[in-house]
Amino acid sequence: MNFPDLAGRTAVITGGARGLGYSLASALARQGVSIALLDLLPEVAASAARLADETGAATTWATVDVTDAASVDAAFAAARETLGTADILLTAAGITVWGDSAEVEPVAWSRVIDINLSGTFYAAQSFARALRAEGRTGSAVLVSSMSGRIVNVPQHQASYNSSKAAVDQLAKSLAVEWAPDIRVNAIAPGYFLSDMTRQFTEANPELAADWTARIPAGRMGEPADLDGLVLLLASSSSSYITGQSLVIDGGYTAI
Ligand SMILES: NC(=O)c1ccc[n+]([C@@H]2O[C@H](COP(=O)([O-])OP(=O)(O)OC[C@H]3O[C@@H](n4cnc5c(N)ncnc54)[C@H](O)[C@@H]3O)[C@@H](O)[C@H]2O)c1
Repeated sequence: MNFPDLAGRTAVITGGARGLGYSLASALARQGVSIALLDLLPEVAASAARLADETGAATTWATVDVTDAASVDAAFAAARETLGTADILLTAAGITVWGDSAEVEPVAWSRVIDINLSGTFYAAQSFARALRAEGRTGSAVLVSSMSGRIVNVPQHQASYNSSKAAVDQLAKSLAVEWAPDIRVNAIAPGYFLSDMTRQFTEANPELAADWTARIPAGRMGEPADLDGLVLLLASSSSSYITGQSLVIDGGYTAI
């Protein structure tokens, strides 16, 4: 896979310390993209160092809670000092909370919406402001989920599903507002093996089997299965694609 126009660009990746964010950071870095990892976890520093070692890319990092807009803006400014203005954004910071919707505490509901929706919005704002100030163009890829379109079973996760439906609408809204300078698309993964989902599948192999039985491809996605789509959306090869949410789920939602 080679997208030569990506070489020399800079990406900010929220939720990049681990999981799908880190894996996609690695895919971008291997195309010659400099990478800023933003994450709540202190291990983001070690992740940035590992990424530089593994790929040779220039990297930087910041510990930041994406629900704090001022901190997000400060982290973008710090990354800009080190790597230059980002022209690619990937928002992978996200959480899920499971539970009967009649019993979910307001604080749990709000945390999911704050991180998955508001945190995505704040990162997109900081990204767009810096590009606009310099009259430059860019591509934002928001990590949504197939859960924005379907209801996962057997677990109950109404806050997560609702937040991801909103992320799809956010991608459309920002794409229309910011066209033609900044393209904004979402990706909507199905079940992928990440640090988050491994916690569930390793603790409950029956759940993993249940999920897998519903996937026509016969397996959960590997993080690298997302590489091609994200590199395409980041690259100018997709210069006429904006405002879309693209499902990548091994056929789950096709049934
Ligand atoms: N794994 C899947 O099957 C799957 C499917 C569809 C969508 N997604 C989405 O992909 C994204 C990445 O998920 P993952 O499976 O890699 O999970 P993960 O838990 O492995 O990674 C998520 C990262 O986001 C970070 N994060 C969480 N809250 C944060 C906050 N407030 N501020 C900054 N960083 C924060 C975490 O520390 C973590 O590093 C999420 O948005 C998730 O909803 C995952």
